[in-house]
Amino acid sequence: MKDFQFKMPARIKFGNGICKSTAEFCKELGASKVFVLTDPNILKINILNPIIESFDNAKLPYEIYSDIIPDPDIETVDRTAEVLKMSEADLVVAVGGGSPIDTAKSICLLQTNAGSVRDYLFGGTKTVTNPCMPLICVPTTAGSGSEMTAAAVITDNQNKIKLSVTHDYLVPKLAIIDPACQLGMPGFVTATTGLDALTHAIEAYVSLNANPVSDAMALQAMRLIGKYLRTAVANGSDVEARSNMAVASSIASVAFMNGGLGVVHGIAQSMGGVAHVAHGVANALILPYAMERNVVGNLEKFRDIAIALGEDVDKLTLREAADKAASAVFKLAMDVRVPLKLIEVGVTLEHFPEIIKGTMGYRLLAVNPCKLQEKDILEILEKAYE
Ligand SMILES: [Fe+2]
Repeated sequence: MKDFQFKMPARIKFGNGICKSTAEFCKELGASKVFVLTDPNILKINILNPIIESFDNAKLPYEIYSDIIPDPDIETVDRTAEVLKMSEADLVVAVGGGSPIDTAKSICLLQTNAGSVRDYLFGGTKTVTNPCMPLICVPTTAGSGSEMTAAAVITDNQNKIKLSVTHDYLVPKLAIIDPACQLGMPGFVTATTGLDALTHAIEAYVSLNANPVSDAMALQAMRLIGKYLRTAVANGSDVEARSNMAVASSIASVAFMNGGLGVVHGIAQSMGGVAHVAHGVANALILPYAMERNVVGNLEKFRDIAIALGEDVDKLTLREAADKAASAVFKLAMDVRVPLKLIEVGVTLEHFPEIIKGTMGYRLLAVNPCKLQEKDILEILEKAYE
């Protein structure tokens, strides 16, 4: 066994309806005014109401801001950071999926570290030196897991690429995991974000940087997603399915924060910048094709994945059992009705060279279970195309 370290990042408070205690948690962290960051869709579907009521009841001043976009870009982050400065709030509560949460992490960073978020992105000119403004996250999707991690993904429109800013100071102070906040998530969002969470678990598990603790978390996340994602998509008001997906998403992100990711996220991140395919959609689509390419990198672990996803591999050879992992993911993707081909999501053959270039520059490609070259990325894209 290799030497390793394991980081348990954000504190989790889990409970059905626990978001009604948000003000209490803010006060525990010493907040005198809260900046609530969310997106326009969340405002429309009333998820915010119990959180706002908790502020009113606790007489805790707050300000709501929702002028942000999916897949936040550098300009949006820098502008929102200025709004936060003007608000005189001393704690941020982010309510939403990965986009509001990553925006929130970045603006908390910019309250205590000078400059633009561009300066702190991968390859940038500055490093994070000061602790960020405290952040509490209330995820409304079960997918990004960003509420647990030390990274935020931001789009650089100028260079058509998504890049991460990563530092332990970005880890939120608390993740409020409340299935009641996820009941209103539409089926398509449930499906694509749920498969993003599955991608986190699978890529962390087969990563060259995996360790026994991240493996345990990744496997449990796979078991829960394999068991509950179909129900969460088919019947969004099933609290048990929502609860298990919410927890699976959070622990899958702890697994990948420690174990790393791989080629699926490399392609998804690149495709997001080049062809504006949403992160969850891109991962959901690429995952099974990438697994077919990666399987030879670790047959035993791919067999474990097949078993975790409920496949019966008793009478199969190791290779046959390992191949069941990708086919189990294909079945799941078909059952929850996500796009299965790139042509369905607006990716064209002309996009391929730029997507491949971006993927080859992805930092975590180094821990993918197979060493991949440009021709391998092309092979995955071609299989996924039409
Ligand atoms: Fe992801």
